[in-house]
Amino acid sequence: MTHAPQHAIQVVAHRGASEDAPEHTLAAYRKAIEDGADALECDVRLTADGHLVCVHDRRVNRTSNGRGAVSALELADLAALDFGSWKTREAWRGRDEEPDWEHRPEDREETSVLTLERLLELVADAGRRVELAIETKHPTRWAGQVEERLLTLLKRFGLDAPASAAESPVRIMSFSARSLHRVRAAAPTLPTVYLMQFVSPRLRDGRLPAGVQVAGPSIRIVRSHPAYVQRLKRSGHQVHVWTVNEPEDVDLCVELGVDAIITNRPRAVLRRLGR
Ligand code: G3P
Ligand code: CA
Repeated sequence: MTHAPQHAIQVVAHRGASEDAPEHTLAAYRKAIEDGADALECDVRLTADGHLVCVHDRRVNRTSNGRGAVSALELADLAALDFGSWKTREAWRGRDEEPDWEHRPEDREETSVLTLERLLELVADAGRRVELAIETKHPTRWAGQVEERLLTLLKRFGLDAPASAAESPVRIMSFSARSLHRVRAAAPTLPTVYLMQFVSPRLRDGRLPAGVQVAGPSIRIVRSHPAYVQRLKRSGHQVHVWTVNEPEDVDLCVELGVDAIITNRPRAVLRRLGR
């Protein structure tokens, strides 16, 4: 059974097709593009030598065979690590469907650390429009450097100054209002998304920090306060919800008229939406 929405809902692959393939690897993003995702989500961090890499955690321990903080390692150190083998078939036991991605250590690039630059190249070569939702991590530690490097890189790809937010294939997300403010100050037409794990009392009426167009509440917020989504929409904001993996949560998002669903399972969500 499909639950087709009245309006188009964008399906965003969270860290790539990260249920099937190791998160934040080329393998996961290629799979998401093959699956038909409208957009890709990634987290970015700065290495010790100033490169933006797509890694969620502060440390590499969970998702690679190495140890240490991304910010203390150089790109060459990270490039020597394997970001794929942790996600073995063992980890997939109990799933109904056999995953159709298999880890092959010989495909080095597929499971190496992914730079944001390489991800931008992948998107540019996708052969169709694939949007990118880039989340800035640890923005206070580097006091503006993450945003500065990010905008420099986007400029090289001609993505830093869209004619309007609505036309931009790239948006910047953060839990930090300060980080989004820095982005807007330097690139006023790039859309920004304010991520929320809880709703602070001053934002309960549906307003967002000044200049932010899009609200990014967690699915927990949406489940427990569905009326909040309506308030955000009445205030003129788009609503992008994370991380929506269960069919009943997809249905709730459809019912509430959210604008984007961020999910580890893009293929399953697209199917649920009748696409
Ligand atoms: O897309 C937003 C979501 O990714 C925020 O949470 O911890 O997965 O980065 P996290
Ligand atoms: Ca994220």
